[in-house]
Formats: sequence, structure tokens, C-alpha cells
Amino acid sequence: MSDAFCSLQKFSVVYGRGRNGTTALDSVDLDLIIGERLAIIGESGSGKSTLARALAGLLPEEAKVEGEMLWPGLRHPPRPGRDFGFVFQDPGSSLNPVLRIGEQIAEAARRHLGLSWKQAYAKAEELLERVRMPQPDRAMRAFAHQLSGGQRQRVAIAAAIAAKPALLIADEATSALDVVVQAEIIRLLDGLVREDGMTLVFITHDIALASGFVDRLAVFRNAKLVEKGLARSVLSAPKSDYTADLIASHRDLLTPPLIAGAPS
Ligand SMILES: Nc1ncnc2c1ncn2[C@@H]1O[C@H](COP(=O)(O)OP(=O)(O)OP(=O)(O)O)[C@@H](O)[C@H]1O
Ligand SMILES: [Mg+2]
Repeated sequence: MSDAFCSLQKFSVVYGRGRNGTTALDSVDLDLIIGERLAIIGESGSGKSTLARALAGLLPEEAKVEGEMLWPGLRHPPRPGRDFGFVFQDPGSSLNPVLRIGEQIAEAARRHLGLSWKQAYAKAEELLERVRMPQPDRAMRAFAHQLSGGQRQRVAIAAAIAAKPALLIADEATSALDVVVQAEIIRLLDGLVREDGMTLVFITHDIALASGFVDRLAVFRNAKLVEKGLARSVLSAPKSDYTADLIASHRDLLTPPLIAGAPS
């Protein structure tokens, strides 16, 4: 597909070997379209994080990969960290507890953009403003434990977008937050990807949460892609029973125009 940023063709990932191997992705065919927001939906263990790690080139050594992962949207082989930004569920795992926030974001900006420390610090504060961190100048000097969960997630997003990646991957980035903060972070992600024309992969087990703002859905179950398509089409006419059950269990939370399949 010509407007694909990334194309997976019969893409499989197996952890371990032989009888003890776990197939985490089983012959997946999926395109990420340039500038689109794609939600990867699925229950625990369905292979969502494996897909995220595979895209970002972060699979562990014991993972055996088959099939193709092509990058028609990039003019060069993918450069992890530069072409992809990654936001995890627990920003504690990506933030360093003993470095000040400003230093961490500045380091990301310095490494990827070749800035001096002075320029990188200025860039870091600008990024904190961009992710609407309250009192960005104070946050620059704070340590991760001095921030709330939502604020830490803003910092993680600032670091992830420091290099202006073409693809932002958010793996359950809002799952640990309460619903109000969750909505704020989703608005923030939505705004950032629109402004920068980034392609977004938003991973969640919550179809209702994703459906409010993504363009496309891909539903996984037991390592298999069971359904993919425009969010509106999938919601109004799901092809698989599994997706229909997911939608039915969230029907009260889904936005009425999306359910009705009306143009947005
Ligand atoms: N490093 C690993 N070694 C062996 N098996 C793994 C490894 N990482 C993941 N798996 C297995 O691969 C399968 C898919 O895992 P994955 O983390 O991709 O699921 P997920 O959909 O992200 O789940 P969750 O919603 O709980 O985060 C699971 O059965 C998991 O146990
Ligand atoms: Mg996961």
C-alpha cells in the first residue's frame, strides 16, 4: 500500500524454542498508514506489547521473527529512538529516579538532535511546555518521585517526542491513570500527533477508550489479528464475534455517533 508508513506481512514472533515456545504474534498482516492513529486492542497476553517492541526494534534476543516488516514511509532503515518515540504504561520504567527531569529530557534532545547542553536544556523546557506540564521551570529541577502519575507521563511523552519521531508508540500509556487524567493525556497525545503529523500506535485493552479518537482499530486475540479497519466501520459493523462482544461490553461508554457509523 503506497501510503503505508510500515507494513507487516505474515509477521510472526515466537519466544523460546520447540515445545516450550510461545507464539506471541501469528502471521499478522497490518499496515500503519502515514499520519493515522491506529489503536491496537486486545486482552492481556494477546501480543500487543510484542508488536510495539517489534516495531521499535526492541524485541529480546530470544524472540524469533518470521515474515516481513517493511518501512515504505522511511527513506532510510529505521533508527530506533530517532524515528520512534515510545511511551510505556509505567513511566517509572523509562524515567531515571536519580536524574532531574530537565536533565533527562535534555539528554534525549542532545543525543538525537546533536544539540549543546545549553540548547538541549532550552529545548527540554519548551517540550515540557508543549506537554502542558504545570510550572515547567520547576518541573525541570524536580525528580520523578516528586511528580504525580499524570505529570510523570507528560515527562515521558516530552522525552519520547524530543527527536520529533515519525512514529509514536504508546503502550498502555494511560492505563495506570485515573479517568480524568487519562482523558487529559489522550487529548495531549491526540493534539501532538496532529500538530507534528506523527503516526500513532495507541495500545490498550480498552476499546471504548481508543475508539473516541483513533482512525483505525486492529483487534488481537491469542496472537492473531482478528479484525482491522476504520474505527467507525469496525464499531458499526464488526466482522468477528470477538470484536462484537468487546463492543457490546462497552456499548454504554462508546460515543453514539461512532456506534451509529455517522461521519465525524
Ligand atoms: N520475553 C518474553 N519471553 C517469553 N514469553 C514472552 C516474553 N514477552 C512476552 N511473552 C509472551 O508472549 C505473549 C504476548 O505477550 P505481550 O506482552 O505481547 O502481551 P500483551 O498483549 O502486551 O499483554 P498485556 O495486556 O498484559 O500487556 C504472552 O503469552 C507472554 O507471556
Ligand atoms: Mg503489554
